[in-house]
Order: sequence, then C-alpha cells, then structure tokens
Amino acid sequence: MTFDRSIKIAPSILSADFANFGAEIQAIEAQGADWVHVDVMDGHFVPNLTFGPPAVKAFRPHVKTVMDVHLMISPVDAYIDAYADAGADILTAHVEAGPHIHRTLQAIRGAGIKAGVALNPGTPASAVEDILDMADMVLVMTVNPGFGGQKFIDMTSKVRKVREMIGDREIHIQIDGGVDPTTAPLVAAAGADVLVAGSAVFRGGSVDAPSVYGDNIKAIRDAAQG
Ligand code: DX5
Ligand code: ZN
Repeated sequence: MTFDRSIKIAPSILSADFANFGAEIQAIEAQGADWVHVDVMDGHFVPNLTFGPPAVKAFRPHVKTVMDVHLMISPVDAYIDAYADAGADILTAHVEAGPHIHRTLQAIRGAGIKAGVALNPGTPASAVEDILDMADMVLVMTVNPGFGGQKFIDMTSKVRKVREMIGDREIHIQIDGGVDPTTAPLVAAAGADVLVAGSAVFRGGSVDAPSVYGDNIKAIRDAAQG
C-alpha cells in the first residue's frame, strides 16, 4: 500500500450477493474499485453478524487491490492475529470497542499490517488525538454501524477537525455510511480521501451487469472530485 490523498472508492461487500463473493469482488475491481471494504460484525458491538476469519481468508485471493477490514467487534484484541492472517492489508478497530485502543493499534501494526481507528457518530474527534502516531487511517462513521443502506449523518465538522489534527502525517481519512454522489462532495471537501460505499455501488448492478457498478463508482468519484 502506497500513500496518497487522491479519492479512493472502497465498495463494501456487505451490499454484494452473499452467494457469490468471489465474482462480486472481481467485478467491482474490474469496474474501478480502489479498495475492497469488508465489514466484520459480531452481534454484540453492533446488532448484526457477518464474517469470521475463514470467510475473510476466502475473499483474499480475489482481492487484487487493498483488502480493508472494518472490525465492528468487541473485544477486538483477541481476534487481530486471526484477521491479519486471513489477509487483511489494513485492519480498523473502533475506539469505542475497548479501553485500550493504543494497545489494539500496536497489536495490529505488530501483525505487520496497517492500522485504522474508527469513530462512531457520537464520539468526538479528540478521542483519536493522542494516538494518531499509531494510526494509518482514521475512519469517521457517518451512520451508526451495523447495517448498510442507512441515511448519511453529517459529520463534516468532525472530518475537518481530524484533517487538521493529521497535518502532514501520512494518515488516510475514511468515511463509511450513506456515501453517494450527493454526500461524497461534502466529506471530500472536508478532507476525506477513502470513501466506503455499499448500496450506492451495488444498486442496480450484478455480476451479469457489472458496468452498472462502474457507472456507480464513477458517479461517486466524479462528485467527490468536484
Ligand atoms: C455500516 C458498515 C458500512 C456499510 C455501508 O455498519 O460499516 O460499511 O456497509 O453501507 P452504505 O454505503 O449502504 O451506507
Ligand atoms: Zn464499514
């Protein structure tokens, strides 16, 4: 993974056909996805359940770009090595998931991969201020995590604060939840560079009609780039 601040679109496979992940991942990458976003949910930190390490490991050979794994689980530390071994390029943990986010980020980097730290809508930007040097990405949630297809919550001022705190450090700002061509420009202007989108990418398309994915990705990217 090299660092730059250009706009990157990361489709969330939470909105893909669950019976056909390999082909879905190949389709979104062929249609312009920059990263592939994998939402891990535990039915405890969030009210939904998704992918264990064996599922993530099965996705890995299909991902040629960046496998971006968003852990919505608590506790998190006990599972870091399993998700790193499953092939994540970057693992993101929530500050709200436990008392020791510094230790969690250390453990992720200790596994030899990039570390992300996520903020729920109710958590202030200041929660990451003192651990920024441990992070390769800050994820600002624009929905309460747990489900795709929710309405965007405007976190623009938080994104600006995080962008200011980061300064010239090589740390991505990711946005997740309700990103579409109308909301993407707001967060991009505030300083975000990695835009996760589930429903806005997969809507209307399929592995048999993949150009719809391409059109959807392009619409978000064009809107974000102004
Ligand atoms: C929400 C997940 C998101 C979700 C985004 O808990 O973290 O990644 O899939 O879905 P959309 O883009 O449909 O809001
Ligand atoms: Zn996510």
